[in-house]
Amino acid sequence: MKIVVYDTKQYDKAFFEEENAKYGFDIKYLESKLTPDTARLASGYDAVCAFVNDDIGAATIDALVDAGVRAIAMRCAGYNNVDMKHAFGKIHIVRVPRYSPYAVAEHAMALLMTLNRKTHRAYLRTRDGNFSLNGLLGFDLHGKTAGIIGTGQIGRCFMDICRGFGMRVIAYDPYPMDDGRTEYVDLQTLLSQSDIISLHCPLTPQTHHILDESALSAIKPGAIIINTSRGALIDTAALIEYLKNGRLGGAALDVYEEESDLFFEDCSNQVIQDDQLARLLSFNHVVLTSHQAFFTREALAKIAEVTFANLKAIADHSPLENEICYQCDQKGAQCPKKHGRPCF
Ligand code: NAI
Repeated sequence: MKIVVYDTKQYDKAFFEEENAKYGFDIKYLESKLTPDTARLASGYDAVCAFVNDDIGAATIDALVDAGVRAIAMRCAGYNNVDMKHAFGKIHIVRVPRYSPYAVAEHAMALLMTLNRKTHRAYLRTRDGNFSLNGLLGFDLHGKTAGIIGTGQIGRCFMDICRGFGMRVIAYDPYPMDDGRTEYVDLQTLLSQSDIISLHCPLTPQTHHILDESALSAIKPGAIIINTSRGALIDTAALIEYLKNGRLGGAALDVYEEESDLFFEDCSNQVIQDDQLARLLSFNHVVLTSHQAFFTREALAKIAEVTFANLKAIADHSPLENEICYQCDQKGAQCPKKHGRPCF
């Protein structure tokens, strides 16, 4: 099995090499992102491994198929950057559906705690000998209402954490689960009742800008928004307006609509050209991390473990448990994957 790993960072390689000791695959690690141009570097390889900000649109897929590549192994859960319809019938897509929902949910709470208790400001102040508390007032999370949009793996973990803090939890999800304790409401009710709103749904055409100007206008004044899911769930221009006019209490963001050229890279010696990002970074009621919610030892080890198991299944022409395709959701019980067969 010959594999090209795109967009490789030193930490990816470290965890992959440890896992590959069990498999002995022939791996080429590239720092470049996967794009239509770099796809040809996979010529003669069986599979490629890609990440959240790689461009896996139609042109890249065609270039990979021309290069003889049979499968794309996403080393992540989200796959909004893949043109699933175009890939269908041409190239198999596998992913890591669950590696550590705890990592992401815990990071969401870390961001909320930072923003609410203003530890990001306190840290800088005390190091500068400023021990004043002015401007650092927070609120008790206990007794407040957390509104969760998307109650999948990560949303459920985050709900448990919020319950542990003594918060009331309400949720919106078009596919609610029946756990006997989650109070589902419609989106409008969630927006108007929640003191904090946390996004845990995937980015799809239906959820693109789920928090747009109209949704933001329905949010309870002073509420905090947390986004550890995907940047384009929020209309950034509208978010900036609502942060400027004081209607929002703050935003805790691990993802950003236009993150793909910036996040995961050291841009500290450059002038940031993205004015919206620069504006967001200027607010003291915004805490922004660069897509690091997944970044724990446990998560990276699990990503490597499942990615290699996926690649082994591809090598062996075995059923692909973690295959995804554009018709998986639509086919319900008829989905071939549920019957141990590849999607096509
Ligand atoms: P999941 O698939 O277990 O859950 C997603 C939930 O969203 C499902 O319950 C689904 O019914 C719901 N949903 C679908 N459409 C919706 C809509 N229109 N409105 C509200 N809910 C909707 O996914 P999981 O593992 O919980 O991950 C959620 C997202 O978190 C991923 O799609 C990914 O974008 C993001 N993520 C971010 C990471 C980070 O490092 N920041 C790491 C891993 C995932």
